[in-house]
Amino acid sequence: MTLNMTSPQSPKPIWPERYKLLLEFVGVSEHDLSLIRKTGPIVVKYAVQLTDEIYELIFNFPSAKQFFVKEDGSPDHKRIKDNKDTMIQWLYYLSNAPTNDAFARYLAAISSMHRSVPSHRPGLPSVPSQYVLGSISFYQTRLAEIFQNELTNKVEAHKASMAWNKLLIVSLDLLLGSYLTHS
Ligand code: HEM
Repeated sequence: MTLNMTSPQSPKPIWPERYKLLLEFVGVSEHDLSLIRKTGPIVVKYAVQLTDEIYELIFNFPSAKQFFVKEDGSPDHKRIKDNKDTMIQWLYYLSNAPTNDAFARYLAAISSMHRSVPSHRPGLPSVPSQYVLGSISFYQTRLAEIFQNELTNKVEAHKASMAWNKLLIVSLDLLLGSYLTHS
């Protein structure tokens, strides 16, 4: 079946169908999903550390850190903490290798939250999409390193990285959904 996500007859993208189609296209197999679930506890173990690392990275780039500083330019610790918690939650969800409709809608909702400019952050632009993409690259690289260090079986570590890479990329499509389909 060919899906046209942005046709005039169907202006609203159908996120769950898009998610399932891309899982299939990328070749996320049942074996991949079970590898992700099996290595999920390792990722959960590192979730806080990885999130701290990504925020350190964000703070090296003015157009990324602008969302997490106060008017005087100092770090807005409450906002940082709240956002870190949501990133940790996202990793927890991913560790269960979800393929259900609710997860696809959850990713699409994050995308529109990143793209829109709500009243509590006036004057700030949309979150630049390249930083979301860059974050996924960061997670892919760090998870590959972590699996190499944590798993004695290096072939299994490599296969786990491949499975996570696929799921992260499929996730990324939806995380950028509102940018891709509206621009
Ligand atoms: C893998 C990449 C990312 C994921 C999974 C992610 C996840 C999330 C989630 C789950 C929320 C929703 C929070 C809520 O429900 O209130 C959110 C909001 C937000 N994210 Fe991200 N994020 C990512 C990357 C980034 C990056 C790189 C930036 C900035 C450079 C960023 C800036 C924001 C901002 C400004 C909000 C809105 C916060 C608010 O208005 O209160 N995100 N993100």
